[in-house]
Amino acid sequence: MGPWRYLFGLCWFLQVHFARSAVPLLANSDFFSLNPTQTTITLERPFCMFKDAIDVYLFAIVKGATNIQVADAAKKVIASNYTGTQGGLLGPYQVAKLDNPKCENIQASNIMADPNKYIVRVGGDVNCLTDPNFKGICNPPLQNNLQYRFTYVFTIGDVVQYQTDWSPPISTVNVKSSGTIDTWPGRRSGGMIVLTSILSTLMFFVFFAYIVGFAYSILNGSQTKEVSRHDTQTTAVLQKAQEPGDITYSSTLAGSERYAATQQA
Ligand SMILES: *[C@@H]1O[C@H](CO)[C@@H](O)[C@H](O)[C@H]1NC(C)=O
Repeated sequence: MGPWRYLFGLCWFLQVHFARSAVPLLANSDFFSLNPTQTTITLERPFCMFKDAIDVYLFAIVKGATNIQVADAAKKVIASNYTGTQGGLLGPYQVAKLDNPKCENIQASNIMADPNKYIVRVGGDVNCLTDPNFKGICNPPLQNNLQYRFTYVFTIGDVVQYQTDWSPPISTVNVKSSGTIDTWPGRRSGGMIVLTSILSTLMFFVFFAYIVGFAYSILNGSQTKEVSRHDTQTTAVLQKAQEPGDITYSSTLAGSERYAATQQA
């Protein structure tokens, strides 16, 4: 088991290393946070991958497409398009033809100043399919919730010099997934509705009992001439009011003022 582990580790390292250096990658999420979207996938342009080439083609396919050939027998890049491949379902289509970028360090300030020099936005052209006068490579919006794979093909005079691996599948955003983020505060689960109903009903009974108790105490109080107290430290003092029908407030002990509402009999 021992040696195999090292071999496995080496393979893993090579695979990671290779994958890192030679497949199309999503653009830096620090700068492009909404990526992918429902219809676009923004990729980093290939810097320092194959310096001798003049042009770079970006091809896209839908994950699972069986035909992945990007060149013919003479090593010429195929002139496939979005429509002809049913949006990448049948095989790779040309997304863009770019100048092979110079080898340079990508810096934040550069990207902010001129993002298009450092990225390719797959699905970025909303008009090319419908515009009858459109010339060139059409890069129309992608399907939502579909997995795409990409490859960069480096060419001189459209003859392939080098091709990266196909990227891992990258999915566009599902239209529905934004709908599942429920922003309506009124929408609640069934359990919560039941709980709320029970609590509301209980609340009603408590309130009802309170009202009944209150009404009862008022009735009771008006029937007996004295105010019932539950206070052991003060005593209600009924003063003779100046005039019949007056309401008299009185207190007997400082600091424990109570009121006694009474009516002259
Ligand atoms: C796209 O490809 C199809 C099939 O290969 C072809 O018939 C069609 O003319 C192409 N469209 C454009 C705009 O090049």
